[in-house]
Amino acid sequence: MTTPYVIDELISAKAIAARVESLAREISGFYKGTDKLVVVGLLRGSFVFIADLVRELDLPVEGDFLEVSSYGNSTESSREVRILKDLRGEIEGRDVLLVEDIVDTGHTLKHVLEILATRHPGRIEVCALLDKPSRREVDVRARWIGFEIPDTFVVGYGIDYAQRNRNLPHIGAVRFLEETG
Ligand code: IMP
Ligand code: MG
Repeated sequence: MTTPYVIDELISAKAIAARVESLAREISGFYKGTDKLVVVGLLRGSFVFIADLVRELDLPVEGDFLEVSSYGNSTESSREVRILKDLRGEIEGRDVLLVEDIVDTGHTLKHVLEILATRHPGRIEVCALLDKPSRREVDVRARWIGFEIPDTFVVGYGIDYAQRNRNLPHIGAVRFLEETG
């Protein structure tokens, strides 16, 4: 059972669409002339974002996906992540764009970049829909960020709370209701 909560709209579907379009323009410019970019979606939270983003890219792209375990509420300092679903394709020597939903503490992104680096890709860059800079514990950054947000728990546009609300068309902030009585 989860505590009762309501969702307050934080970023509208219209604002997301406009931002995705401008991100795609920047990314297309950056990779202009690249033979075939490998766009890697980090599952599951990036699935809506990556679908919209690739459709706005003016580039030849290949799509691949990676799923890693989340460390949940683990308090271990290492905060290692394990691969649950690996890429289907080889990335050696290829330009890779890793697409992530949220960079929070940064541990997930740091570990994923370390795992991918062992496969000797060409350039590897990151595009994150959301960034919570005030929560960062390790020094990692995404070259492209959709929106910076405050330290608040969000859902929608692919992002879940307890596996729900991924299908919301906008991004909302979860507000937990006080239990009275
Ligand atoms: P990090 O390793 O702390 O940077 O966490 C990254 C992952 O935690 C994100 O990719 C999300 O899957 C999850 N996460 C972080 N903040 C939120 C949130 O506000 N809502 C839902 N998931 C989140
Ligand atoms: Mg994630």
